[in-house]
Amino acid sequence: MPDTSNQPEIMQRLAKKVAERRTFAIISHPDAGKTTLTEKLLLYGGAIQEAGAVKARRATRHATSDWLEIEKQRGISVSSSVMQFEYADTTINLLDTPGHEDFSEDTYRVLTAVDAAVMVIDAAKGVEAQTIKLLAVCRLRNTPIITFVNKFDREVRGPLDILQEVEETLKIDCAPVTWPIGMGKSFRGVYDLQRDHLVKFTSGKEKQGTDQQVIEGLDNPLLDTLYPDEIETFREEVELLREASDPFDLEMFLAGMQTPVFFGSGINNFGVQEVLDALVGWAPQPQLRAALSREVAPAEKPFSGFVFKIQANMDPKHRDRIAFFRICSGEYKPGIKTRHLRLDRELRIGNALTFMANTRVASEEAYAGDIIGIHNHGQLQIGDTLSEGENLTFTGIPYFAPELFLAARPEDPFKAKQLAKGLKQLGEEGAVQVFTNDLGRMLLGAVGRLQFEIVAHRLSAEYGVEAKYEPVEIHTARWLSFPDEITRHDFQKRELASMALDVDGNPVFLANSKYKLSLTQEKWNTVGFHATREHGQVLSQG
Ligand code: G4P
Repeated sequence: MPDTSNQPEIMQRLAKKVAERRTFAIISHPDAGKTTLTEKLLLYGGAIQEAGAVKARRATRHATSDWLEIEKQRGISVSSSVMQFEYADTTINLLDTPGHEDFSEDTYRVLTAVDAAVMVIDAAKGVEAQTIKLLAVCRLRNTPIITFVNKFDREVRGPLDILQEVEETLKIDCAPVTWPIGMGKSFRGVYDLQRDHLVKFTSGKEKQGTDQQVIEGLDNPLLDTLYPDEIETFREEVELLREASDPFDLEMFLAGMQTPVFFGSGINNFGVQEVLDALVGWAPQPQLRAALSREVAPAEKPFSGFVFKIQANMDPKHRDRIAFFRICSGEYKPGIKTRHLRLDRELRIGNALTFMANTRVASEEAYAGDIIGIHNHGQLQIGDTLSEGENLTFTGIPYFAPELFLAARPEDPFKAKQLAKGLKQLGEEGAVQVFTNDLGRMLLGAVGRLQFEIVAHRLSAEYGVEAKYEPVEIHTARWLSFPDEITRHDFQKRELASMALDVDGNPVFLANSKYKLSLTQEKWNTVGFHATREHGQVLSQG
């Protein structure tokens, strides 16, 4: 039952804390400039003092952590992390997402923990494959999106061309908030269509962005003096734009139907502050969250939230595993007692962590929207809900049916136990999905091939198990649900060779071809075949 002891003053205090929070992720295709933008946002928040710190942090991680070696070799960012900073009296939680498509499942789950997203587009390349996928995920939950079109200090595509592509490809209305004058060597700056002023472009990788030069009004004669060759055409363009394009509409944005668009150059710290101001001014505060029994409001007194990611080896000195937990309501205080619904027991959170740009500190207090790190000794899995008292299960944190499969067996048969233990833990982290069939064979399922490489590397480095990975003839997996025990029994008897159990003991059908899947579905038309499953929910009924 919901806690009824919500005294008005406590709720008022919590409502204020919630209103002061923003939680968002940056999404982009690799190389569009996500890391660069992250870094500049952190500069504004005073979370780092010099540009280069995020990349430097990545470099130190590379130097000290074994398995992240793969990231370095491949020049990609595999792991996602969380950073909290303050800006304009607002506590901002920024969630990094791995850009590589092989980790889309991880990215998906990160996106379930945010209330808004910033989409970075490389102005030379336009809308790229990974952006399309990530945006589709945001659209599932109608997450409001702010768009930053990056790299205008280079020769890029025209702004109209890019907007058209965004609208057509991503099926979202664009409302330009700023508009660029020129590009590359003749990039002059952006015109702020709302504030009616031009912000002059100045280059400089190290600048803080506080030294903006602004020229008020489109008719300002100073513009004729400064840009005699281009200003007339630009004025016409702006007039046209004002007539032809949709103005920014807060409601449409909050409904995920329209995206405000900003132009700039992340590396030159140009156009970045506008994005941050939009986040604080327009992006939603932490929202209601759906649980199985009801929706949970962020200013409710009892503490609640869910685990959306588990990351190992964040601190290589400690070999630790941290569960990233999004708070959905109430207040975290050290030592808080919560109910762990899946394990049906109490869990006390003694020393949760808050993640800053390049350090983590003991969290003293945290509220809805904040992401805290909980030391995990195996008790927490992705999708787990913790709540103060009430039996809650937050929904919407799914596992996807893998499309790539390998069988794993230890090179040394005496290491079977270690292999099983390693795979269980890596499965719990969401690094890979693990299935066991009737013959005791361990099958690994992944959405992207790189996941296998990481698992092999980590099994060897962390669990001391060298394994053999063999191809298997499996095309896809489906979680099963049965209308009754008799059907379950019959199905298991006849289809045993194609069945396995996942880490939580749910029955899974492993089809060796699309054809086999549809044939089996036709044959067993009362059985449910599910392409996703929600964590912690054992599918029993169809
Ligand atoms: P990502 O996280 O989305 O993968 O992109 P990242 O920020 O690492 O940027 C990818 C490349 O694009 C980097 O160059 C970065 O310097 C460059 N970049 C980012 N923003 C801008 C911009 O506004 N203008 C220009 N011209 N370039 C930009 P790199 O050569 O791969 O790395 P580095 O040597 O600069 O670190």
